[in-house]
Amino acid sequence: MTPIIIALDYPDPKLALSLTKQLDPQHCRLKIGKELFTRSGPPLVEELVKQGFDIFLDLKFHDIPNTVARACEAAAQLGVWMINVHALGGRQMLLAAREAVAKYSPQPLLVAVTLLTSLERNDIYAIGLHGELDENVLRLARLADACGLDGVVCSPWEIALIRKTLGNSFTLVTPGIRPASSATNDQKRIMTPAQAVQLGANYLVIGRPITAAPAPLQALLEIEETIRETRD
Ligand code: C5P
Repeated sequence: MTPIIIALDYPDPKLALSLTKQLDPQHCRLKIGKELFTRSGPPLVEELVKQGFDIFLDLKFHDIPNTVARACEAAAQLGVWMINVHALGGRQMLLAAREAVAKYSPQPLLVAVTLLTSLERNDIYAIGLHGELDENVLRLARLADACGLDGVVCSPWEIALIRKTLGNSFTLVTPGIRPASSATNDQKRIMTPAQAVQLGANYLVIGRPITAAPAPLQALLEIEETIRETRD
């Protein structure tokens, strides 16, 4: 199975399904985020799970511990493969999420968002955080690990530091990936798929380089080829 998770960032479930019809669930995973979920809700998730796809439900829960625990249970009951919460929700919230998910079998992977990659240094100062971005990311990744979470979503530029600090069994999921030939869109601190995998990313979240390509399946295969070339 490829490390690629395709971000289904579509405004309409029909568009999402017209892409997934071309994909093999044994071959790649899918991410459903806030836009598509708010439009299509659980039925689309259930349909894709029924088709055999591993789904990363990217709803980044952030609320009081009890509410997040119940939301995680609801997500686990949909049969998704991975869910996420914000590490900034704090220790009690992370522990509540961990405990809620542990009741399910198979257990979805539970990962935390540390700092959103859209935040810059001035933004974190404005919300009262001090120090460098990567110090904050590492502190939050350590907190997620200490609370028993499986890993974090991180920028490709944070992979090496987190991998070195938290070891090989901590799952790293990285967006901000762009093949050398692709438009950067609104992503700023990007890296190629092969570089991110070499640095130790477990999963790459890739949206527009695949979903907006004239031939999405071909784009997926070409990206995989670039990863294989550097592994061989
Ligand atoms: O189209 P693109 O490859 O930029 O899509 C990246 C996906 O990863 C989007 O669904 C976006 O919401 C998500 N994401 C991100 N940066 C984060 C967390 C999630 O780009 N820090």
